[in-house]
Amino acid sequence: MSSPAPVVSVLLDPDWAAGSLVDDVRRGLGAKPLRLPPKWLYDDEGSRLFDLITRLPEYYPTEAERAILDLHGADIAAACDASTLVELGSGTSDKTRVLLDAFDATGRLRRFVPVDVSEATLRAAADMLDRRYPDVAIEAVVGDFTLHLGDLPGGDRRLVAFLGGTIGNLYVEERGAFLGALADSLEPGDWLLIGTDLVKSSDRLIAAYNDSQGVTSAFVANSLAVLNRELGADFDLDAYSYVPFWDAHMERMDLRLRSEAPQRVSIPGADLEVDLASGEEIRVEISTKFRPEGIRAELGAAGFEVEHIWTDPADDFALTLARLR
Ligand code: SAH
Ligand code: TRP
Repeated sequence: MSSPAPVVSVLLDPDWAAGSLVDDVRRGLGAKPLRLPPKWLYDDEGSRLFDLITRLPEYYPTEAERAILDLHGADIAAACDASTLVELGSGTSDKTRVLLDAFDATGRLRRFVPVDVSEATLRAAADMLDRRYPDVAIEAVVGDFTLHLGDLPGGDRRLVAFLGGTIGNLYVEERGAFLGALADSLEPGDWLLIGTDLVKSSDRLIAAYNDSQGVTSAFVANSLAVLNRELGADFDLDAYSYVPFWDAHMERMDLRLRSEAPQRVSIPGADLEVDLASGEEIRVEISTKFRPEGIRAELGAAGFEVEHIWTDPADDFALTLARLR
């Protein structure tokens, strides 16, 4: 029996990318210190490079989270009486298959809703999942998890998965707003499964964001290529070097591009000219690292009660199951 084709709903309107990119670029590059908004890292090329990052020997988070899912996926499926699994920032949903297999074995899961801004990656994932799970309805959503949580399918007991440590790419006040909006969109008793990278030695952290093959620096530099393509900007990609910096006080990686010479960049699509001094840096992304007490506090403040925090055998990464009170 052939399963129905996966449904893909597009919540981002076609001009969204253009409009929202212009707003973000004006806000981020129109004032100092210069800062780029991270969701623009994931165009088709960025998504391809990120997939390579997840396979790098230095980038431990993906395999650490996969190990936790391998060890505890069945416990998670047994604990959650969910019939819908929603995944935010799902990307390729590669690791999620471990969770889907565990849920599939319970026979309870009816629907999987992967949500991502990267449409091509999401469509490819939806096709793959549809073939693999013929008894689960795949209802993919091209959407922004900072804007569209209220528009996701509801109706029955849900588990929302947010993997890969992506929550750490938000600033603390953005995390609060995100978790609050998520709580508002859920019913009491619904579940949240959230992956967070843990604080560890700066050597390993810096290596994870500065691999020897240069994939990570290409991923970060691609954000400038997005601005050249979408807004007609004239960033010279060779004029920047990648600076991954561990901010020990904020306990986060701070990933920057440094202009190696004074230069003027024009960004006609945003009606902006930016002057960079020699050595001036553009912050492209942060990646916050957590401690268990911080995870509990941030989830608790948004109304979620932690059921369990699992870590991988090396204690590098945490996967937390929580329930909305
Ligand atoms: N969950 C996967 C991918 C993590 S990379 C993993 O664990 O490996 C982050 C993903 O989130 C990318 O696929 C990116 O396209 C998506 N993303 C980033 N910002 C987003 C936003 N605001 N709304 C929806 N998806 C977003
Ligand atoms: N969520 C991933 C993380 O914080 C995203 C990521 C991986 C990333 N490598 C990166 C972001 C390099 C910017 C630069 O680990």
